[in-house]
Amino acid sequence: MALRTIITDESPKLRMISREQTTFDERLHQLLDDMRETLEHANGAGLAAVQVGILRRIAIVDVGEGVIELINPVILSAEGEQEVTEGCLSVVGKWGRTIRPANVKVKAYDRNGKEFEIEGEGILALAMVHEIDHLDGKLYTDIVIGELWEDEE
Ligand code: NI
Repeated sequence: MALRTIITDESPKLRMISREQTTFDERLHQLLDDMRETLEHANGAGLAAVQVGILRRIAIVDVGEGVIELINPVILSAEGEQEVTEGCLSVVGKWGRTIRPANVKVKAYDRNGKEFEIEGEGILALAMVHEIDHLDGKLYTDIVIGELWEDEE
C-alpha cells in the first residue's frame, strides 16, 4: 500500500466528471487499498478517486464503523433533510454548513464487481452524498449556507 497525494480545490480536475469503473481487477484493489491508507492517514470520513487524481467513479467512506467501498455508486432514493457541518480533504482546513438528505439509499458495486445496496442516515448519508458529488465534479462549497470558516490554529 502507498499513500497518495490528495489534490485540492485549486485543481481543475476536481470539477471534472469521473467515468464508470469497468474492471474489477488487481489494479482497482491496489487503488482502493491506497485510498484506504490515504484516508486513514488524513483522518477523514471519505475519499473519492478523483481526489487522488483518478477520474473513476470510485469512493470510500468511513464514519467510524469501518471502510465502505463504493464502485459506480448511484443514489436510489434520498429522503428528509439535515443541516450539517461539512468539510472536505480537498478544501483544506475549512468548514461550512450545508443541508443534506437525512436518509439515502445507494446502489454500488464492491471491489469484486458484486452489486449491493446500502442505506445510511445521519453522518453516513452525508458522507455518501458528499463522495458521490465528487464523482460529478461537485464540492460542498457550491451549496454552503453563508460563509466558510477556517480551523483555528
Ligand atoms: Ni470531499
